[in-house]
Amino acid sequence: MRAMTDYRNTTLHVDYGVIKDNVRLFRERLSEAARVCAVVKANAYGHGDVAAAKAAVEGGASFLAVALAREGIRLREHDIAAPILILGSPEQSAAGGSVEEAVAYGLTQTVFHADHLFHIDKYAAEIGKVADVHIKVDTGMSRIGIPPHELHEFAELVASYSHIRLAGIFTHFAVSDELSAEDNTFTRGQFEAFMEAAEPIKRANPEIILHCCNSAAALRGIAGESFFPSALQDMARIGIAMYGAPPVPTALPLRQAMRWATRVTMVKDVYGGCSVSYGRTYKCDGDTRVATLPLGYADGYHRAMTGKAQVLIHGQRAPIIGRICMDQCMADVSHIEGVEIGDEAVLLGRQGDDEIRADEMGRWADTISYEVFCGVSSRVPRV
Ligand SMILES: Cc1ncc(COP(=O)(O)O)c(C=O)c1O
Repeated sequence: MRAMTDYRNTTLHVDYGVIKDNVRLFRERLSEAARVCAVVKANAYGHGDVAAAKAAVEGGASFLAVALAREGIRLREHDIAAPILILGSPEQSAAGGSVEEAVAYGLTQTVFHADHLFHIDKYAAEIGKVADVHIKVDTGMSRIGIPPHELHEFAELVASYSHIRLAGIFTHFAVSDELSAEDNTFTRGQFEAFMEAAEPIKRANPEIILHCCNSAAALRGIAGESFFPSALQDMARIGIAMYGAPPVPTALPLRQAMRWATRVTMVKDVYGGCSVSYGRTYKCDGDTRVATLPLGYADGYHRAMTGKAQVLIHGQRAPIIGRICMDQCMADVSHIEGVEIGDEAVLLGRQGDDEIRADEMGRWADTISYEVFCGVSSRVPRV
């Protein structure tokens, strides 16, 4: 069967070589002891899970992390053999379903309650396996995980099961991407609470992996900032930075892997005072050349960016004018020479000397780079 053509020419291009290079930068800057865990949950933040995971492994990642058992199983079914940590919680019942499959597929589960351990052990015993788990400690996210003072007892419970191996202990920082003194104090508090609870267990079992850094904390560790170098421990879980949107300033030359582009479908000259798009909220100041683009909020080009978004055409910035529609939007190209039907318009990524970065688009949409990457809808073909 012939691949279906997207008649609109609106496509999302992901450069997996860039992901590999970005991961390699972390591999080179971290100590030998600190593994790189590539976070490829949510379809690798919208970048394509299997290809991103393979690129990350080639770049030096020795661990992968997903949010759901289903995401890890997909990687296994595509012959990815690296250890895979499921960061999220199991199905409510903790019986059957995702827990059983995670054991069968050799996925490492995050654990923080006793029922879950019971079921993991049961399934692992049935198929004659020993299942790896990592204990999640909640030091300040108030999301999932046990409080630090319960870690010792919980680790003993884990050790009491013969078909479970305690392979790691971790926590997650809430404000490591915020640079104020107050936020740093909070993160330091999280780290110290984690280490106080986890270090004695590690001392008795040196093979256990301790990990707490996400992209922001790892970048600050690499930069030698404050206590962050010691927080790198045995592994750093790198998500957003490996896609090229570092959440804190960094000297690492990370590049954005995602490029989202389309092509002009119509160019027209309108007179001053003419309104553009629904609601007539935008009225042209003077004579204006309008280029129509074939994408809208159904593609993940947020309507909230109305009045703020820009695109790159002929390497120059053109503002989106009028409300963003479901399938189309309009750009003012009056100042750009010779725009024609079929010309490329870049929504995210580089054209010529300029680049629209996910952080910038996130600000237009009143959100963050993470949601920009994850938000490009499935009807946009991935190239
Ligand atoms: C537990 C955990 N670790 C690591 C990450 C990766 O974070 P980042 O993308 O900021 O590197 C996430 C992402 O949400 C997470 O939930």
